[in-house]
Amino acid sequence: MPSLTVDQITKLYRTGTEALSRVSFTVDPGTMLAVVGHNGAGKSTLLNIVSGLIRPTSGTVTTGTGRGRLMWAPQRTMVDWSLTVRQNIELVARLTHTPLSSVDRVLELLDLEKVCSRQAEYISGGQLQRVQIGRALVADAAVYVLDEPTAGLDPAAGELVMEHLRERAAAGATVLVSSHDLDAVERTASDLVLLDEGRLRAHLPIQEFVRRAGATMKVSVVFAEPMPESCPDRLATTLPPEWALETETDRTGLSVQVPLATGLRPVLAWLPPELEVLDLSAEKQSLRDVYLARYADRTPAPQTATVLK
Ligand SMILES: Nc1ncnc2c1ncn2[C@@H]1O[C@H](COP(=O)(O)OP(=O)(O)O)[C@@H](O)[C@H]1O
Ligand SMILES: [Mg+2]
Repeated sequence: MPSLTVDQITKLYRTGTEALSRVSFTVDPGTMLAVVGHNGAGKSTLLNIVSGLIRPTSGTVTTGTGRGRLMWAPQRTMVDWSLTVRQNIELVARLTHTPLSSVDRVLELLDLEKVCSRQAEYISGGQLQRVQIGRALVADAAVYVLDEPTAGLDPAAGELVMEHLRERAAAGATVLVSSHDLDAVERTASDLVLLDEGRLRAHLPIQEFVRRAGATMKVSVVFAEPMPESCPDRLATTLPPEWALETETDRTGLSVQVPLATGLRPVLAWLPPELEVLDLSAEKQSLRDVYLARYADRTPAPQTATVLK
């Protein structure tokens, strides 16, 4: 049973902006779902609706099976400025009847021990962001919703937070996290929701999204000795139409670009067996590569404008 069901959500702000348009998807327990899309795509609106902060104009959100709570870290800083770092996190622990030992664990995890008795007013932006994340992570929850938690964090802290979220999902929680750090998303999240101008463009496991978005793999081969003069032409005639071949001018090697879904085996089978391979490397396009190539300009070709499902 899904831990979260978003059904036909539309949000029309009073200013007339339609921030979300009939967005539907479900998320299973144990999923770390990354919500990605350009600035203004509707990520915060979606996460604020899921968290119950704002109401959709139409549609429904159902969380869990009635059990388990939802913890939330919004994009805008929401802390108690007059309280210390520790008190900020302790407050949430008390409100959620969480043992206070969890406060120490979160302070340690987010490297906040040194500033734990400082008032929130007097800490850095990155530290404030950590406090906010700490307030979301201090309690056990069925669903965690974090809106750009790694924005403003140093790279190591960002990595640590995403990795920790992955662990919470692996332990059975549902994690919704928006982020522009697509490399970290690819390393940690299992699934992706891509929003574009308030519309759901894709909801897929990340690796499938990367494959379906037309990612390629470049396989480079170095031969033990130069191939015979006629070989490059011969190779070109046996090249499948969707592959692209480049041979070194001195015929000591070649590289072939294939759809990621093709995999390595057909490439190896295509290489003439008489050529001894000295070195082989494969470079796969990442989520970031395909996103920048296909979705960043927000003017997709018509055939890509369908929801990848
Ligand atoms: N409170 C609001 N009132 C009116 N328009 C808003 C409000 N919040 C966001 N918007 C608009 O809704 C759209 C989606 O915003 P948002 O959900 O914050 O996007 P994202 O988080 O993906 O950057 C944007 O066009 C934004 O300007
Ligand atoms: Mg946002």
